[in-house]
Amino acid sequence: MCGIVGYLGSQSAAQILIKGLHQLEYRGYDSAGIVLNTGQGKGFNLFKAKGKVANLEAAIPDEVMYQDHVTVSGIGHTRWATHGEPSVANAHPHVSMSGDVVLVHNGIIENYKELKDQLMDRGYTFQSQTDTEVLCNLIDLYYQQHGHDLRMAVMQALNKAIGAYAIVVMEQQDHAHVICARKASPLVIGIGEGNEEFFIGSDATPIVSYTHKVIYLDDEQVADVRLNHEVEILNLDQTLAQVDVKEVDLDISALTKGGFPHFMIKEIFDQPNCIENCMRGRLVHLEDGSYDVKLSALQNFKAKLIRARHVIIVACGTSWHAGLIGKQLIEEMCRIRVEVEYASEFRYRNPVIEKDDVVIAISQSGETADTLAAIQLAKEQGALVFGIVNGVGSSIARAADTGIYIHVGPEIGVASTKAFTGQVTVLTLLALALGRALGTLSEEKFQRTCHELMQIPAKMGEVLKQNEAICQLSAHFTYARNFLYLGRGYNYPVALEGALKLKEISYIHAEGYPAAEMKHGPIALVDEEMPIVFLATHHELYHKIISNMQEVQSRKGRILAIVTQGDEEISHIAQEVIEVPETLQALEPLLSVLPMQLLAYHVAVMKGLNVDMPRNLAKSVTVE
Ligand code: F6R
Repeated sequence: MCGIVGYLGSQSAAQILIKGLHQLEYRGYDSAGIVLNTGQGKGFNLFKAKGKVANLEAAIPDEVMYQDHVTVSGIGHTRWATHGEPSVANAHPHVSMSGDVVLVHNGIIENYKELKDQLMDRGYTFQSQTDTEVLCNLIDLYYQQHGHDLRMAVMQALNKAIGAYAIVVMEQQDHAHVICARKASPLVIGIGEGNEEFFIGSDATPIVSYTHKVIYLDDEQVADVRLNHEVEILNLDQTLAQVDVKEVDLDISALTKGGFPHFMIKEIFDQPNCIENCMRGRLVHLEDGSYDVKLSALQNFKAKLIRARHVIIVACGTSWHAGLIGKQLIEEMCRIRVEVEYASEFRYRNPVIEKDDVVIAISQSGETADTLAAIQLAKEQGALVFGIVNGVGSSIARAADTGIYIHVGPEIGVASTKAFTGQVTVLTLLALALGRALGTLSEEKFQRTCHELMQIPAKMGEVLKQNEAICQLSAHFTYARNFLYLGRGYNYPVALEGALKLKEISYIHAEGYPAAEMKHGPIALVDEEMPIVFLATHHELYHKIISNMQEVQSRKGRILAIVTQGDEEISHIAQEVIEVPETLQALEPLLSVLPMQLLAYHVAVMKGLNVDMPRNLAKSVTVE
């Protein structure tokens, strides 16, 4: 999804903007641009390119790239097309018709057509098909009407705009001044020493290598950022808002590939460490040998969580799959009824939400527009919102009443991997803590589950040792045009997740099903061309899964089975077998998903595809 970077100060702005845009590449984009204003009466210095940031970089002359020691304001943007095709004309920044105002924008202006007509009636013309240029000219209109008062012009325009935005706006006449604003799309302002520099980002990634002092703008807030002055924040009704400067501590080295060829494989291999980090201080091994689960997020809301008769999990994509596992964990350990909803469906229905309900919102980025909207709906109806989020300080983290960060570090590969296992780990901890508090989980089962959970990082390491073998067997599957993934119980959501991973990065059509559903339709697809992945670990439905497998075998389907270490029966039925260590049924997804991720990764790499940035996908889906 689009990325924003901005700079105000006297370092080499072009270099800072380009570096920031590179750091935001993980969000997915199709064109990029920057604009600089050195205030020397030369107007805006604008550069745009279709495709990669490297193309943009190549278009910037050295004298601009290395210009230092001049006060300059600059903004940059990576665009992911929503209105109008990916092109130079549609790339941001957009300059107003008068040439006085320039802006970058994340989000969507829903009433842009109506606004555009009004502007055209006043003689405005447009160079692009974007909603952003409409907003830019609307600001320009008020800018001309209000004696070049940029702040006033932005506020007036935003009061007319319907939709979502994070914007950064510059004016030609003042090169030491920018205006930022947000609604439903994040924006962060980094403050340099003595207000002598400012850094702006759609997240903190392009900021933290310069400063750890940041302001997260809230919805419908406008920030007036002027060199050598304190930042002023206003609400759209022009009242002053409180300026809340926070310290962020994001490890920038975590944003690099660490010797792996792609972010995705690095992140797959990060998982044992990530899960340890996620459990640190939460799953506690006491001196007497027993375990405890300590979740500070539960403390203030314990009574409300315990009282809940109904939990609704809202999420999208991979996070939704984690939610399906969360449902089974909470129902099994806490005996509370749980529904799992696609946030995009939930927000547009008229769902039944009672005051005592708890809504759990799961999101890696913490910025997914549909999940955020679902939270708002739940809050309006009086439910307690519990966030399970990776993005620290993200919109969802801030919108939730309470919650738990999964602490798996920045996930850069577009296909979600370590966030999924982090989410499932947090859901397990939550179910354990709640089940114990409710008395619905026996102490013996609590202790046994905690003990097994503690072993998961080491067991994940054992699965990852088979990477080479999984790479080799993946070669047999690159021909496939369709895949089926089948699992039961806790492994059914893993089947869905395996299918999603494969389709999003290898572009092979794949579907996940509960294994027993196969005979109700999908079995018609089975022939010798069709690979079928069975999640067939040792648990109570093991023999039923073997029967399903035999049905496929007799139709000559090609079977890849994920089995428990030491399984001897399935190797006679399946063509390929990957073993995972034995664990409790409820914890199996944390192990069985790893071969799914590795299989998808290797198939995509063998097909020569861009695994970290698959076509048409964005890391953070901040539009609905
Ligand atoms: C799949 C994937 C997406 C996300 C979905 C939700 O690999 O990455 O399906 O899971 O867009 O995103 P978050 O978790 O950031 O809300």
